[in-house]
Amino acid sequence: MTSPAARAASTAREWLACVACGATYDVDEVRYACACGGLLSVERPPGWAARLGPALFDARLASRADVDRSGVWRFREAVRDLPAEALATHPEGATRLYSRPALSDWAGIERLLFKHEGENPTGSFKDRGMAVGITQALRVGARAVACASTGNTSASLAAYAAQVGRPAFVFLPAGKVAMGKVAQTLAYGARGLAVRGDFDAALRLVTESCLRLGIYLLNSVNPFRIEGQKTIVWELLQDLHWEAPDWIAVPAGNLGNTSAFGKALREAHEGGWIARVPRLLAVQATGANPFFRSFADGFRRRHRVRPETVATAIRIGDPVSYERARAAIETTRGVVAEVSDDEILEAKRRIDGTGLGCEPASAASLAGARRLRAEGVIGPGERVVCVLTGHLLKDPDPARSAERALVEVDADPAAVEAALAPWLR
Ligand code: F0G
Repeated sequence: MTSPAARAASTAREWLACVACGATYDVDEVRYACACGGLLSVERPPGWAARLGPALFDARLASRADVDRSGVWRFREAVRDLPAEALATHPEGATRLYSRPALSDWAGIERLLFKHEGENPTGSFKDRGMAVGITQALRVGARAVACASTGNTSASLAAYAAQVGRPAFVFLPAGKVAMGKVAQTLAYGARGLAVRGDFDAALRLVTESCLRLGIYLLNSVNPFRIEGQKTIVWELLQDLHWEAPDWIAVPAGNLGNTSAFGKALREAHEGGWIARVPRLLAVQATGANPFFRSFADGFRRRHRVRPETVATAIRIGDPVSYERARAAIETTRGVVAEVSDDEILEAKRRIDGTGLGCEPASAASLAGARRLRAEGVIGPGERVVCVLTGHLLKDPDPARSAERALVEVDADPAAVEAALAPWLR
């Protein structure tokens, strides 16, 4: 590389590198793709990860400072290496890991755990990437921020933009975003456009609009979002005392998370934070399964579909992080699965029924793990962590239409007795 940016990168602690051609750019250059069209990734000098690691991150668990309590900035040198005052934080992350014997029995996976990312401040994992994305937006002096979204990214963007006092614009596929997410996004003060088209069309539109209008784009094409989302994996490894599980299962839509998980595992392994790399299981809905189709094809072809699924969060037909996610699957000996809407809703009912609760898309991780166990791909005795990506209240429609509808009664004990009688037998 001979460009000035490339020379600067050779002495920098962080820079942007194209995942397709390897060209490098200054870390603070505002760009979302390489000149060749490839996606960008934040990179660091060889051996960096081995200079950090569990001892440093574990020590911070005892601290009360916001940047240490944040499950993102606890790993800050490996996420975005800036002084603590420069970091935007809610704080976020620090979500819990759960076991539920009823779900282990149902899935046939004895050693099954759930990392509940719905416990983030705005109710989804997006807050982890957004903390880093907004930090970078401030650093480059962005006057406004924007994203396309199936609802969770927009809610997260709106909250973080409100926190730092920047206007936020969200592009939503018209009529296809769960009401809880729309209400939340607007309540935080974002301005919204309902785009006639699906998420993929909204993403193309916001990307072009950001370039035209000088607005900072915070979809997961933005490499800083990926850096933040790596910490889902690092935090769950930390929760497990850095004993890697056999599998990590995650719902897959635009493939930002799948990409982030692959990068997180590669870096943790290179740094010696874990002794072996878990296998990734990326799960799509049958009606929105382009990545599954490519996997089934041995990645010979990049598929695109017209998406349709009850899991609106992952109703995506042309995932933008395809290449990065493909690398994540290949380097982790991963698997891509598809599950039907019925399987997703059944898994959601089971998760809700243990008191954990999640939104429909999140339940795809459990539905996929159950299916792979039934097929023998996940072996008996293997340890599996399913990531629950969003909170139950994000998308309450399936819960409302469930069989347990409210029974209206007069304010009278006899009416209560009559109403409860069938359930108390
Ligand atoms: N689960 C939930 C709850 C999501 O909101 C999303 C994506 C995913 C899984 C899939 O993650 O795109 O990284 O593969 N939601 C985006 C949004 C598209 O706009 O909120 P992915």
